[in-house]
Amino acid sequence: MEKNIVVIEGDGIGPEVTRQSVKVLDAIAEQYGHKFHYTYSLMGADAIDKTGNPLPDETIEACLQSDAILFGAIGHPKYDNDPTAKVRPEQGLLKLRKSLQLYANIRPVTTYKSLHHLSPLKTKNIEGVDFVIFRELTGGIYFGKKEINEEKTIASDDCTYSRDEIERVSHLAFQYAQQRRKKLTLVDKANVLETSRLWRKVIQDISKQYDDVAVDFLFVDNAAMQIILNPKQFDVVLTENMFGDIISDEASVISGSLGLLPSASIGTGAALFEPIHGSYPQAAGKDIANPLGSILSAAMLLDHLGLSVEAKAVRDGVEWTLVNGFVTKDIDPINYYATSTIGELICDFVANRNPSEAINKGNIEVSRSTII
Ligand code: IPM
Ligand code: MN
Repeated sequence: MEKNIVVIEGDGIGPEVTRQSVKVLDAIAEQYGHKFHYTYSLMGADAIDKTGNPLPDETIEACLQSDAILFGAIGHPKYDNDPTAKVRPEQGLLKLRKSLQLYANIRPVTTYKSLHHLSPLKTKNIEGVDFVIFRELTGGIYFGKKEINEEKTIASDDCTYSRDEIERVSHLAFQYAQQRRKKLTLVDKANVLETSRLWRKVIQDISKQYDDVAVDFLFVDNAAMQIILNPKQFDVVLTENMFGDIISDEASVISGSLGLLPSASIGTGAALFEPIHGSYPQAAGKDIANPLGSILSAAMLLDHLGLSVEAKAVRDGVEWTLVNGFVTKDIDPINYYATSTIGELICDFVANRNPSEAINKGNIEVSRSTII
């Protein structure tokens, strides 16, 4: 198979984690006889620094012509504390989502046995947790009319949804549920918001076409609590843009590290794959960031291209590093391995170069914290 992939490394730790994914994709290409061509494009603070624009037209153009997009992270502290900034890195990502009509953001939440101890939740509550959040990504309050009065004392953000916008992401979520445990939970605030009442109505209508899927409804405040109290109850969680943003960060703590979670944004054209973590500027350039969120996003990219055997090889490689204690500093702050080492180990695994037993850790450089 021959595919064109746009790589947007982005800001902060984006470049170093994305490089590991590209290495892993190359290892997959080599092992399974594919060709991946990469086009590097700019977005975010990096793009503002270089061009003044958080999303240059060339980036949109390259993405429109690609088969898939691999993205790192976005954001820089110099914009976070300046509410008056006219140009912000995040505008780039929002505009790209809109330009490519990436209306469905898929965020799987899985747990790994070897990392149960890192979760702030009790092991008995997280064993076997496996659900997927479907977040609507191109509508709602993120894209509504924004206003502030001249005196800058009153501001508003509109939240609008059309039936069509709700339907397209909901069909995907229902179809996904059919392939899984056949349960779909709509998270909304239908006791207060008109848009939420429309979501409920549309889901009730659509559910008739999917009578093998059990549907239930949760108010978002209750859902926020249930995700922590009993995350095992969920299979597919469907929700609007802003609620999805919030509950997916919340759900990420279940697995033990935000650095582990991948995501896919799909729509009418090329799909985009990115870890859910941010740009983590404090760690940028230090080779300590966790590349697994990005590498697992690359696995989702492979799945999306129909390469499920290859995607499984990447996931098995990730599992192999975790089980054998090859982890980054966020997971083991004392004995940890470099971002790039983890990437290489997964490449080795994909190429069948890793011994299945008796690993000589002495051959692999371990970094040690000075706080022992
Ligand atoms: C995410 C991020 C973005 C969002 C930001 C960077 C605009 O938090 O992908 O979850 O809010 O959608
Ligand atoms: Mn977010």
